[in-house]
Amino acid sequence: MSKIILTGDRPTGRLHIGHYVGSLRRRVELQNSGEYDKTYIMIADAQALTDNVDNPDKVRENIIEVALDYLACGLDPSKATLFIQSQISELCELTFYYMNLVTVSRLQRNPTVKAEIQLRNFEASIPVGFFCYPISQAADITFCKATTVPVGEDQLPMIEQTKEIVHKFNSIYAPDKPVLVDPQALIPEAEACKRLPGTDGKAKMSKSLGNCIYLADTADEIRTKVMGMYTDPLHLQVSDPGHLEGNTVFIYLDAFARDEHFERYLPEYANLDELKAHYTRGGLGDVKVKKFLNSVIQEELEPIRNRRTEFAKDIPEIYNILKKGSDAAREVAGQTLSEVKQAMRIDYFEDSEMIKAQSERYAE
Ligand code: TRP
Repeated sequence: MSKIILTGDRPTGRLHIGHYVGSLRRRVELQNSGEYDKTYIMIADAQALTDNVDNPDKVRENIIEVALDYLACGLDPSKATLFIQSQISELCELTFYYMNLVTVSRLQRNPTVKAEIQLRNFEASIPVGFFCYPISQAADITFCKATTVPVGEDQLPMIEQTKEIVHKFNSIYAPDKPVLVDPQALIPEAEACKRLPGTDGKAKMSKSLGNCIYLADTADEIRTKVMGMYTDPLHLQVSDPGHLEGNTVFIYLDAFARDEHFERYLPEYANLDELKAHYTRGGLGDVKVKKFLNSVIQEELEPIRNRRTEFAKDIPEIYNILKKGSDAAREVAGQTLSEVKQAMRIDYFEDSEMIKAQSERYAE
């Protein structure tokens, strides 16, 4: 069986380092591993509209930002199909049919949907489109028969919901020869990468909290954000023992620092364990640790930022890439949709056997 990757992001803002360690970095590795037959990367504008109804321009403006972030990270249009969700109308058709396979109470129990309903104060009046987005996400994942979905941990309930739809579809409509493919989520192994906190230590990075480091940030912006990061409020003097628990600087180091960084920027320690030991023992100041983290993040983000600037010199070409990708995705979606319709017994005009049998019956 082919190995196929699909994943994507909502275009509601530029991508930040939480996206990067949570999924982007991995996608590029997978794309380059040569182990996958196809890689699809989707800008999920239709999904973004489910909770941004009154803000279509925000979604529109951020398509290019997300595309630039993708290319800057190393997603390569010659290896991966980059496309825009709304341009694949087949996804709506798939969603419509999958809706029959999901109950309202199952959607209500989806933990991600639950959390988002609370976050957006939708309790009293949930838009139907928003409520159903896990079903549309199942269409995103199944249209290309994805086997592998690299995502952040928060997306696990979506993959779970997709699996249920796949199993139900296959067992009802295609029991002998499955049509849809069961996807596997691929989430980061390192705890710190699963959910990188904001620079202020809050659990969620969000634009409105102003606590994100963006891939497009300048070197100065990064430095200012790192030097202002939340650490350990009990670590008042250098000599005090420091705490690692909930200490944003050390969580970021867990996500970014490698032994080679110590050789380059902090050779008096061999690795992160030694640095942590000194911090907890006391005698290591926050500023020194922050400066080290700054060097590490700068090293990682500088080439990304430079590539982004290069790509931004030819915006029409980026739209070209997205258009080509969308055309390619539409073709694959059309193929899957016709298999789905055949399995669902709604392929009337292709079924000459049926037409013949019915004419014979009426001729008697
Ligand atoms: N829900 C994802 C997010 O909020 C975006 C997304 C839409 C997605 N469709 C997808 C991710 C399909 C993986 C697979 O980031």
